[in-house]
Amino acid sequence: MPNQTNLETNILKMSADKKIDLSTEDLHVWYGDNEAIKGVSLEFEENKITSLIGPSGCGKSTYLRSLNRMNDEIESAKVTGKIIYKGIDVNASNIDVYEMRKNIGMVFQRPNPFSKSIYDNIAFALRRHGIKDKNTLDEAVETSLKQAALWDQVKDQLNKSALALSGGQQRLCIARAIALKPDILLLDEPASALDPISTSQVEETLLQLKEDYSIVIVTHNMQQASRISDYTAFFYVGNVIEYDETRKVFTRPKIQATEDYVSGHFG
Ligand SMILES: Nc1ncnc2c1ncn2[C@@H]1O[C@H](COP(=O)(O)OP(=O)(O)OP(=O)(O)O)[C@@H](O)[C@H]1O
Ligand SMILES: [Mg+2]
Repeated sequence: MPNQTNLETNILKMSADKKIDLSTEDLHVWYGDNEAIKGVSLEFEENKITSLIGPSGCGKSTYLRSLNRMNDEIESAKVTGKIIYKGIDVNASNIDVYEMRKNIGMVFQRPNPFSKSIYDNIAFALRRHGIKDKNTLDEAVETSLKQAALWDQVKDQLNKSALALSGGQQRLCIARAIALKPDILLLDEPASALDPISTSQVEETLLQLKEDYSIVIVTHNMQQASRISDYTAFFYVGNVIEYDETRKVFTRPKIQATEDYVSGHFG
């Protein structure tokens, strides 16, 4: 494996003209004594899709979860370093995590709609944030479903249970996540439990959403990473060892381990 000096020179620093929405500086995550993330510094460009790839257990989910402090919910987890969102360190102790997550939303691996109607799945979070006006809720539900490319499929069945929705549950979860109008959308293998048609619908949705959101996605699917993402970060045992424009990572990686991984020859 490359040594630390190599690692540092190969990490992409965005140039000054790029607009950075979110970044981490020297982020470490421990579960008890196990250091799962070992000082990761990355910058995420606005209105772009960044893929996090790498072998199982290398820390992709841990890193992604730390970006909106989901690791707070895990008792043994300890996170140090900075997570800078619009100039503010959201890893600081005085941050209102609930408010922060309005701006940095998350979609999980398995579609997890609430056992409620399609409408209420989306209206739920809005109501919790104090929005009660029926017209405002109707509008937000429609807009979110349109953005998630699900409106045409469900507009006549908004009162039906979300659990009965086949082939669209993950897009409903995306609609739910964007109802609060976050800036950043984090997704952990959002298509790994889906059939090929639903997968391509989710990919289409993400490509449309990047006009309004900055997206960070964990994926094991190399084709998916190369199809949809602008940037790719390769994680290896708790470090990012290569981070660059996706086409470069896939066609001209600087590091042998990246090449082995993206070409499927990982030992
Ligand atoms: N909740 C947890 N408690 C304790 N250790 C954990 C927890 N979650 C992850 N880990 C450990 O942290 C390390 C990184 O795991 P993580 O799930 O982030 O990897 P990953 O890259 O997402 O893997 P995969 O591709 O299999 O999803 C592993 O050693 C894992 O065992
Ligand atoms: Mg994972």
